[in-house]
This record gives sequence, C-alpha cells and structure tokens, in this order.
Amino acid sequence: MSRSAHPAGPRHADVLPEGHYTAPADDLNALDPKVWARTVGRDADGVVTVGGIPVTQLAEEYGTPAYLLDEADFRERARAWRTAFGDDADVFYAGKAFLSRAVVRWLDEEGLNLDVCSGGELATALSAGMPAERIAFHGNNKSPEEIERAVRAGVGRIVLDSFQEIVRVAHIAQSLGKRQRVQIRITVGVEAHTHEFIATAHEDQKFGIPLAGGQAAEAVRRALKLDGLEVIGIHSHIGSQIFDMSGFEVAAHRVVGLLKDIRDEHGVELPEIDLGGGLGIAYTSDDDPREPHEIAKALTEIVTRECEAARLATPRISVEPGRAIVGPTAFTLYEVGTVKPLEGLRTYVSVDGGMSDNIRTALYDAEYSVALASRTSDAEPMLVRVVGKHCESGDIVVKDAFLPEDLAPGDLIAVPATGAYCRSMASNYNHALRPPVVAVRDGAARVVVRRETEEDLLRLDVG
Ligand code: LLP
Repeated sequence: MSRSAHPAGPRHADVLPEGHYTAPADDLNALDPKVWARTVGRDADGVVTVGGIPVTQLAEEYGTPAYLLDEADFRERARAWRTAFGDDADVFYAGKAFLSRAVVRWLDEEGLNLDVCSGGELATALSAGMPAERIAFHGNNKSPEEIERAVRAGVGRIVLDSFQEIVRVAHIAQSLGKRQRVQIRITVGVEAHTHEFIATAHEDQKFGIPLAGGQAAEAVRRALKLDGLEVIGIHSHIGSQIFDMSGFEVAAHRVVGLLKDIRDEHGVELPEIDLGGGLGIAYTSDDDPREPHEIAKALTEIVTRECEAARLATPRISVEPGRAIVGPTAFTLYEVGTVKPLEGLRTYVSVDGGMSDNIRTALYDAEYSVALASRTSDAEPMLVRVVGKHCESGDIVVKDAFLPEDLAPGDLIAVPATGAYCRSMASNYNHALRPPVVAVRDGAARVVVRRETEEDLLRLDVG
C-alpha cells in the first residue's frame, strides 16, 4: 500500500501491472469470509444478508450508499482482542478508525479502553459514558483547551508528543491541582507496512520524540521532574496494515532499551509500554491477517524476552488496534447508476457514492474487493473499475475487480472491509451527503450515524 498521495489520473489509467491479479474468482457469487463481516451470507434468493436482513430491504429502508455495520461481529472482534491480551494488558480501541456513541457503548460493555486523538473524539467518548480513566488522549498538537478538558475529565493517560507538550500538560495539570498520568510517545526508527518494515531512521515525521540522539531520554528526564505529571510509560506506534511482526520486535527492543536506560539513570522502572496499533486486515482474498491471540502471544513474548535480557520486570503492555477491530465488520452498499464498457480496457461501473465515502483508494492506492449484492448471477466475469459520482477522474472506489457481465443500473453492489477509515475520513466533496452507518444485529437494524441532509449542509453555510 503506497502511503503517498499522488495526482489522480495517469496512474489510474495505466494498464494493470503484470501479476496484479491472475484471474477472477471461480465463483463470483461467493463471499470470502476473510473479507466479509461474520454474519454476512446470501439468502435463498441470492441476496446478500447481514445480521439476517437482506441488503435489498436495508437499501429500501435506509437508502444507498450506506455503511452496514455488523454489530455482533464488532463485539466479537473487540472481545477477542480483550480475551487474547487478558487481565495483564490493556486494549485501547483506536477511535480514529471509526467512532460513534453506539461504538463507545459496545466497547465499554466489552471491557475495552478507548484511544481518542481530538477534542471531538473525546467529546463523543465522554458523551456516551466511557469512564474517563479508560480513555487515552493522543495527538501531536493538542490545544490547551483540549488538554484542560481531558485533565478535568480525568482521562487515564495523555500521550505526550513533544517537549513543549510535556511542559504544557504539566502546567495545566498543576494549575488544576492534579497530577496527570502520561506516557511519552517516542519514535524508534521503525516504519512498518504490511509485509515489510524499515528499521533505519524513520524519524523524519511529525509524531513522537526521536529515540535517536538521546532525545527521548531527555524527554523522560524532564517529565520526571515535573509535579503535574506521573510518567507511567513509553508509547510507540510503527505503522499501518502490518502483517509481519518483526517491526514490533525491533520497536520493543528499542523501547525496552530506553526503559533500561531510565532505570539505570533514575532508579525508576516505568510500569507500562504501549505498542500502538497498525495490525492488518484482509481487504482482498490475497491478504492473510493474524488472529488476535497470535498477535497477543507474539507481542507478549517479544516484550518479556527483551525485558528478561535487560533484567527488567515486564511492564504492563497496551495495544491500540483500530482497523483490526472495526475494519472487517462493515461494508458499503451502493446502487449502480451507469455501466460503461471501454473497448479493450475495462468496464467503468459508476455508483452513487465514491471518494467522499471512501477516500482510501485515491489517497493510498488501497485495494478493495466488490460483489454483486442484490442477486446472484451466472454471467461471465468482466473486468471492472468501480467509480463514484464525483467530478474527478481519481474518484475510484475499487480499482480492479470482476463483476458479472450482466450487471445493470439498479443493481446493488457491496464493497467489504470498509469499517475503518471510510466513514471517519468521509467528506462533503461536491456537497455529497455523507452516508449513514446502520448497525445490524440479530435481524434488527438501527441507524447509529444518520445520513446527512441538504439542511445539514445549508445550516453551516450562513450565507
Ligand atoms: N495508535 C496510534 C497512535 C495511531 O496513530 C493509530 C493510527 C492507531 C493506534 C490505530 O491504527 P490501526 O490499528 O487502525 O491501523 N487513514 C489511514 C490510517 C491512519 C492511521 C493513523 N494512526 C488508512 O486509512 O489506512
């Protein structure tokens, strides 16, 4: 997955790189459980169902495009993470992947903690009743107002991101007569994506304080001296959509090295280490993510081994999965508007949404899959590009996929694994109305985030 933004157009018009895919799936009607939410299937008429409800019925009731969220699957995945890490570790769901008040309640009920990274996410968490002590507050430029609100609310930890923030949080906490629990976010010189990681200096980025040159050690030194702060640990987040655990291994080695230096210099063993999020999910059948229990086992072993070698007591571990919990639990349902075959190239299928509800394809070259959802078909496969309705040629939802040749306007198609970073990164480009999130569970559906209306748009435009 490329992380760099690029001008839309030429790259997308390229012919497919060799080996990009081999052939269409044997059965275009099949729904690979790897990429679909767990209660998704087809009913006797061939219509895709989620939580026991056919998507045709959901489309009629809630319209398209819509994000359909499998609540049972969300809860199961959240619980699996919680169980995998057990009572000696903490799981913080990363709210940036997708946050709503319903989600906050599910997390609370399933015993997870919550990572927020803005005043808006904090407000959502608090308004849905998440106990403040189970909230971690992140961000590289938290405003004084946001910090004050978090400290007053009593958040369990603030993750400090810069030298200036160390002083800022200490000052605000002290002026409120409080001692704020904090972690210090460091950059360990590891950058990980999917199957590769780079363990050289990737410290040229806005987050965290570099380990290099003794800067992280200096940050800890300063923070330990401030009365307004209780330093509880070190935080490291190394990347996104990671399948290979070796990046975490290098990160843990370097974080534990810092803990050892802190112990040697200050006689203090910091009790916690947070390894961040970034665990990958399957967007297509080619991806093979690990299960939470394997990840928990691997991370715990890595940290324990490193601490034994450094003769440190093993600190309490925390992790911050976002995508790995919510990503697979939702899909986007679209209605096909036009089908345009381009001789010798491919067929463009235009849907009623696009880059305003899924910017990831345009922004990261992300890959998605797609299925005909309102019926099955025995027609031959055709190579398609699913595009949106925005005024931009880079408005692509699914770059290359196969759909049946008899696809027609009015058909419903569904794009799986859109639970993370789709609604949360949605925009109003071209004054699109952001789609609703409809949670489905045991045959019942309810809107957890409603569709925007033209009144919503006009309310902000004060004329
Ligand atoms: N913790 C920290 C400190 C983070 O910065 C992030 C993500 C996470 C946890 C959660 O990572 P996850 O487990 O969800 O991968 N918009 C991009 C992803 C940006 C992630 C930013 N930080 C995308 O759509 O791929």
